[in-house]
Amino acid sequence: MKYRKFGKLGIECSAFGIGCMRFPMEKNEKGENVVNQKIANEILHTAIDNGVNYIDTAYVYSDRQNEKAVGIALQGGYREKVRIATKLPIWDVNSKEDMYRLYEIQRTNLQTDRIDFYLIHALNRDQWRRMRSLGVREFLDDLKAQNKISYACFSFHDNYEAFEEILNDYDWDMCQIQFNYMDIHNQATIKGVELAGKKNIPIVIMEGLQGGRLANVPASVKAVFDSYPVKHTPAEWAFRWLCNFPQVGTVLSGVTNLEQTYQNLETFDKTGVNIMTPEELAIVDKAREEYMHRIKVGCTGCRYCMPCPVGVDIPGIFGTWNESYKFRDDIAQNGHYRRIVNDGHGQDKCVSCGKCMEKCPQSIQIPEMLKIADSELR
Ligand SMILES: NC(=O)c1ccc[n+]([C@@H]2O[C@H](COP(=O)([O-])OP(=O)(O)OC[C@H]3O[C@@H](n4cnc5c(N)ncnc54)[C@H](OP(=O)(O)O)[C@@H]3O)[C@@H](O)[C@H]2O)c1
Repeated sequence: MKYRKFGKLGIECSAFGIGCMRFPMEKNEKGENVVNQKIANEILHTAIDNGVNYIDTAYVYSDRQNEKAVGIALQGGYREKVRIATKLPIWDVNSKEDMYRLYEIQRTNLQTDRIDFYLIHALNRDQWRRMRSLGVREFLDDLKAQNKISYACFSFHDNYEAFEEILNDYDWDMCQIQFNYMDIHNQATIKGVELAGKKNIPIVIMEGLQGGRLANVPASVKAVFDSYPVKHTPAEWAFRWLCNFPQVGTVLSGVTNLEQTYQNLETFDKTGVNIMTPEELAIVDKAREEYMHRIKVGCTGCRYCMPCPVGVDIPGIFGTWNESYKFRDDIAQNGHYRRIVNDGHGQDKCVSCGKCMEKCPQSIQIPEMLKIADSELR
């Protein structure tokens, strides 16, 4: 495993970090949705046995079951081998007391005395100002002073201006951003990467494959990659491109099975800072240009918008829309979409309440985009 510098912290973490958000779910005896603990154990144990030492979870992942599953998987000596990152669920915070209460629940879920990287989850400008007024900076200072957390951090979903404001507003130990070869002008942007680098604040990457979209690319994008004499899979291109940045610490990958875990272990072993040639970088630029023509909506399937109060399957509809468009230019009449509608989860149920938009990290105008998707897919 390759290890990478974490800016001003003076530590190194594995290039590959396990993002636990996409662990598969199953029903337990009571019919409740729970994480498939067997698969979670397999992924985490395999990754750690092969040198991964950075594990990312959050209170809200997997219907609030993810931290518990990670806590269980890390028993038997694994906890001591890794740094755990988890996130304060800002949506449940209305006071400083809420912050302390939630931290204690999270620590218990994870079966640990100290959380290594403690992030304020999914900050945008408005949420940052709200959390700041509730005293989140003092709360983080206090947790650090009490050795309850090692590092005070945030994860981010907004634009560059908001990123700059948040980054400059507290002495952060790390920031986690959505970054990949498609998002150079979206979210924190490449300018944000440079700014964090200048301040020597380490960066952890999420959505490096845009939730999987950059692994399963349209044929025309694959053809661009395959035109290069040295062959890499699309996922390898995406990870190599990220690791080329010296400012980047760990790159999270939300693996869903052992096969992907093994593939990514191998891929990250071949990454490094500034190792890509100008010719390779030009191929990525060309792939980006080609892909731009093929995307209908920037949904990454993170499911933050769910559950929809009236049952619309928002990520399912957007996923179907993007998938259909990937391979053809006219996409009328989509069988998968008809099944979603027949099951009662189509756009026709949407009442435009806007609850989903409050939670969407990509700032998608969801009701409006659903209407367009419906008109094209029906
Ligand atoms: N803080 C935040 O606001 C926030 C938001 C989003 C994510 N995160 C964190 O960041 C982590 C990473 O983000 P992400 O899950 O969106 O990561 P990602 O790497 O962009 O996407 C993960 C998906 O990529 C596919 N994949 C992974 N390895 C592959 C391989 N070798 N070959 C083919 N496909 C592969 C899988 O898709 P399939 O299952 O379709 O095969 C997997 O579900 C999350 O797990 C979570 O811990 C945080």
